[in-house]
Amino acid sequence: MIGIVDSGIGGLTVVKAIRELMPHYDLLYFGDTARTPYGPKSAATITQFAVQNIEFLLNQGAGLIVVACHTAAAVAGDAVLEKCGIPLIDIVSPAAELALRTSRSLHLGVIGTQATVQSRAYPRKVAALNPKARVFTSACPLLVPLVEAGWLKKPETVMIVKKYLYPLKVRQIDTLILGCTHYALLAGMIQRKIGRQVKIIDAAHAVAHAVRKFLETHPEVDGQLPRQGDLKLMVSDVTDQCQKIAGIIMQKKVKLESIRH
Ligand code: DGL
Repeated sequence: MIGIVDSGIGGLTVVKAIRELMPHYDLLYFGDTARTPYGPKSAATITQFAVQNIEFLLNQGAGLIVVACHTAAAVAGDAVLEKCGIPLIDIVSPAAELALRTSRSLHLGVIGTQATVQSRAYPRKVAALNPKARVFTSACPLLVPLVEAGWLKKPETVMIVKKYLYPLKVRQIDTLILGCTHYALLAGMIQRKIGRQVKIIDAAHAVAHAVRKFLETHPEVDGQLPRQGDLKLMVSDVTDQCQKIAGIIMQKKVKLESIRH
């Protein structure tokens, strides 16, 4: 099956996007809700958690792994890849590639967790793809807790979003990467505050397309993946609130299975 991993439940945005694009593939999601959020943690801790999560998915029989968590992908990138030994697609690369294809001015903005922004993974990836592009970043540490609390439309959230976007607005970016799983739930608000002229990059859709493209060009991997349409959603801790947010993301009632790993 395709294993999809995130620090919590935000990565369900990636599950939804993959499901919509490739409904027949068996998917296993693992969200590390017991240890989330990763964003404020050190690189060493994030890397350790990321490797453990990958090992868990490997033990479950994943034939392809998607790192849906920007923080884990940005901070633990190479360590995770080395450990994996099977094809792995991370969310940072497809989001950066789509942003570059979308932008005209090559002035890109990225918002993400503290760890994602500190890692400079997005600026490095973009520079490797197109050295002429400029990347401006803004860390938004309060947005994950606000989304998890369900404060999706509160005036306080609008105010905080506006403050976080200001440093990017003054740089006159024309494309903005939502560099965190949770921000898709605030996409409308972010669009209004950054301005209609800025194109928003939804990383979940970018990675779903990258997965499809990978499988089209790697029949030896594709042929091994079961296609019964199974969907298993596992998390390391289940609470009513994460069950509720999972339902909002998937736009239907879903059952999260609690698993110790
Ligand atoms: N999943 C994380 C990301 O995409 C956000 C939540 C966290 O901080 O763990 O960056």
